[in-house]
Amino acid sequence: MHLSITRPSTPDQALALLRGARSELGTYIADLVVTDDHLTTAFAARKRRPEWVWTAHRDGRTVGRVAAWGAPANDHPWIVDLFELGAEPDRVETMTELLRQAVADLRAGGLEQVELNLHPPAGWRDDPPPALTDLLAAAKAAGFEILVTRRRFRWTPDAGVPSAGDRLRFEPVSGPDDPALADAYRRTFEGSLDAHTQRSLRTRDAAELAAEELADMMHYAGPVDGWRVAYDADGALAGLVTGDPGTKVFTGYVGVVPEQRGHGYARELLAWMTRWQAEQGAQKVVGETDDANVPMANAFEAVGFVQESARIDLVSG
Ligand SMILES: CC(C)(COP(=O)(O)OP(=O)(O)OC[C@H]1O[C@@H](n2cnc3c(N)ncnc32)[C@H](O)[C@@H]1OP(=O)(O)O)[C@@H](O)C(=O)NCCC(=O)NCCS
Repeated sequence: MHLSITRPSTPDQALALLRGARSELGTYIADLVVTDDHLTTAFAARKRRPEWVWTAHRDGRTVGRVAAWGAPANDHPWIVDLFELGAEPDRVETMTELLRQAVADLRAGGLEQVELNLHPPAGWRDDPPPALTDLLAAAKAAGFEILVTRRRFRWTPDAGVPSAGDRLRFEPVSGPDDPALADAYRRTFEGSLDAHTQRSLRTRDAAELAAEELADMMHYAGPVDGWRVAYDADGALAGLVTGDPGTKVFTGYVGVVPEQRGHGYARELLAWMTRWQAEQGAQKVVGETDDANVPMANAFEAVGFVQESARIDLVSG
């Protein structure tokens, strides 16, 4: 099909190659990652890098683009999250080639498993956008399979500022390596309904995984000013919650230790964080959870979050 694939070598080249990319998934997040603003800031912050960009060309035209995203301090990207299928009749095959090349290059660089995150609208199962069908077909042809499907929730001030109740006592933490935080986080892994956690625990030691994930969490839900470990009225550990201050912010993690589940503490932890974020000026708080994690989805809804979109995570075999 006379296709050539380019992997740029400087941020300026990468920006030039990605400029004007179009997402067809029709959701806030899918549209955001192709904007000039987002791309310029992300390349400057090393959350995007030239070697994490692949563009397909034919007869002087750009016919497909893919890019990954990660933390400034990490060698490897977390996810591939920018996809442009283009308009050529063989766009599924072009996307397959781009994804195969991305996997080959990232593996050659030492990344074991590549993850794709697609952000379709909430109703994608009943009414999939054509681009989603094409992206899923390309991903499968390139050797990816679905790990998990997720829901993305959004709180805005018009939902009202929630109250956390008075059953829990919230203690600040000193940093991502605070021993009380790390211990609480590790303990919430047990019986977790979260697919990424379950998969990581098959090959990883829980304490190590907890330390690594808390360090990573600093990049999307840090600093730790609002992170809290929570205790019940008897002083027993109940769980933890993380999130960042600002105008557009994230619920980082909500976790309840196994022996304290079923008391509605997830709602209280999330309510505490959302109230704190509202007090810090949040105009939008975003949180995500797996479709299978019904208790967490219920907690989001109880606190006034509404579903904004969905997420489909695929991993290379
Ligand atoms: C998701 C989580 C925070 C829910 O906490 P919680 O405070 O127990 O939630 P609720 O009290 O609202 O529980 C509602 C129901 O779900 C059940 N439930 C909660 N967590 C469960 C789990 N991991 N597995 C099976 N059932 C669970 C409760 O027993 C309760 O059932 P009941 O109504 O019959 O008593 C908790 O399970 C947890 O920490 N999981 C691991 C971490 C995680 O997945 N965090 C969210 C990441 S986005």
